Parts: sequence; structure tokens; C-alpha cells
Amino acid sequence: MSIWPKVFVTRMIPEKGQSMVTDFCDAEVWPDELPPSRAILLERVRGIEGLLCLLTDRIDGEVMDAAGPGLKVISNHAVGVDNIDLPAATRRGIPVGNTPGILTNATADFAFALILAAARRVVEGERFVRDGRWKTWGPSLLLGTDVFGATLGIIGYGRIGQALAKRASGFEMRILYYDPSLESPNPYLPGKPVGFETLLGEADFVSLHTPLTEETHHLIDDYALALMKPSAVLINTSRGPVVDPQALYRALKQRRIFAAALDVTDPEPISVDSPLLDLDNLTVVPHIASASRTTREKMATMAAENLIAGLKGERLPNCANPEVYASA
Ligand code: GLV
Repeated sequence: MSIWPKVFVTRMIPEKGQSMVTDFCDAEVWPDELPPSRAILLERVRGIEGLLCLLTDRIDGEVMDAAGPGLKVISNHAVGVDNIDLPAATRRGIPVGNTPGILTNATADFAFALILAAARRVVEGERFVRDGRWKTWGPSLLLGTDVFGATLGIIGYGRIGQALAKRASGFEMRILYYDPSLESPNPYLPGKPVGFETLLGEADFVSLHTPLTEETHHLIDDYALALMKPSAVLINTSRGPVVDPQALYRALKQRRIFAAALDVTDPEPISVDSPLLDLDNLTVVPHIASASRTTREKMATMAAENLIAGLKGERLPNCANPEVYASA
């Protein structure tokens, strides 16, 4: 029997983080490109002390119980923790780690890239060229919408939303934000706090930066989309289910909004048969907003640090359920 703590890592992660885990633990690392199936996950966690998981793994009470009473820590290789049943972890006294802060800039950069891409029809233009449809310079070819000086509505004004606002200020955008979790909005934050409906009615670009919770599930539905301007663009780099995909399909198809750009979909991956993929005014990419080399390396390192701290019985440097320590 190994003297090192037994852990399961549900996918290979960038090297530095992975070697921190394998140096300190008796680690089994799931080697495939696809996540372990539910049955395999339930089997591999048996008897572990630590679990390092990804946002593609659903970690609920059943997984925690399958691991058994020795499970000391769950470390998510993501800032969002909607894949983990936090109350179930807290009830069992298990701290859950996540990776806030380090992916803020990469994600805000990417949200801005999607704003520009959707507004100026970059992906559509690229497809147009590759399809052999480019015959000449056209005065009305692929006309888009201006970003410079436009109004940006940010839903969820935490770290990433605020970092997006910084980028937008370079484009002299007017910034509105909606975030009911900010109890007393900091007067030094750029932009103007407004109600949900006002933001949707006034923004030329609506960018989503909320966590996925019961309250934000399908926050952008038929009603919300109907409030948006016909010239408006929707950007989602948060979590897919914040947008109702059927409502989005209707709004894009009927040109009730100009365009949408999604880094995240519901479900993930989006089915290649999804009617959304037939629409030219939708840009979609495979959940890569934080996917810069350095950011992913830092995420892996932070996930490893959280895991190792939990195994040592230390407080996690980044804990998503700090209330777990209140009862300790
Ligand atoms: C990515 O989506 C994350 O939550 O880190």
C-alpha cells in the first residue's frame, strides 16, 4: 500500500500542475481525450482522498459517497463550480477548490474577440472566402455593426465583467451593467448600474458573465431576447444554460437580434445537428475563452495547489465553499 494519498485526476492537465500532483500523490490520471463515463468515475473514485476534476464531470453526493469517508478535497480545474454539488460537499465537510482570478484576462480578451467577430462578421467572411464566393469588392458586402462608441451591457459584473469593461473603454463604449449580487455598487467601477430590462433595451452588445445558478438558468429567454434591439448582439462566455437555446434560435432566425457569439452552449458539445448551426448570424466556438497556454498552465497549477492543501488538511488557497470551515 502506498504511503502517498490516493487521488483520481479526471483528465490530463497541463504539465506543471500534473507533475505537482503526481509528485505528491499516488495519482491515477484518466488518459483519454473524453471524460470518464459516470460508471467509470464512480468506480475510480473508490477509496480516494482527493479528486481533481474538470467542468465536464458532474460531481454530486453519489460520487462523494462512492469515494467514501476518506475523501478530503475536491479540486475543480475551473473557476465555475456549477458541475459540483457544493451543499453536498459542505454537508460532508469536503472543501471544494476552484481557480478564480487567473483566467479573468484571457476570458475578457476572448469575450471582446467575440464582440468584434460577431459585429464585423469575421467568421462569416472567412467562410465566404473559403467557399469560393468572393467575386469582387462589394459596397454592401457583409455589412456589420460598429463596436467603437456603441453601448455594452454587461450582465454579471464580477472580475471578468469588469475586465471586459476595461477593454470596452478603449473603444469608447458606453457601459451599462446589471448585477443583483453587488449589494452596494462601487462608485469607482466604470459604467452605470441599471435594471435588467433597461440593459437589454439599451445595449448594442449584451455580454453574459454570471455563474450558472437556479436564478440564471435560461436568464436569456424569449422575454429577454424580445427586449433586445434588432441591431443587438448577444455574447456568452459564461455557461451555456444561461441562454435558452431554442429561444435564441427563434430570435436569430427571425432576425429579432442581429447576431450572437457563443463560447458555451447547452448542451456541450452542441450537436452538429442543432438548427443553431444552420444560422449565419451565429458564431460558436468550443468553450475556449480561457484557453491561452499560460492561463491553462496557471489553472492547472492552482488546481494542484488546492488539491495538495486539502490533502495536507490545510485551508485551500481558493475555496468555493468556505462555509465548510465554519463547522470545523
Ligand atoms: C471555465 O469555463 C471555467 O469556469 O474556468
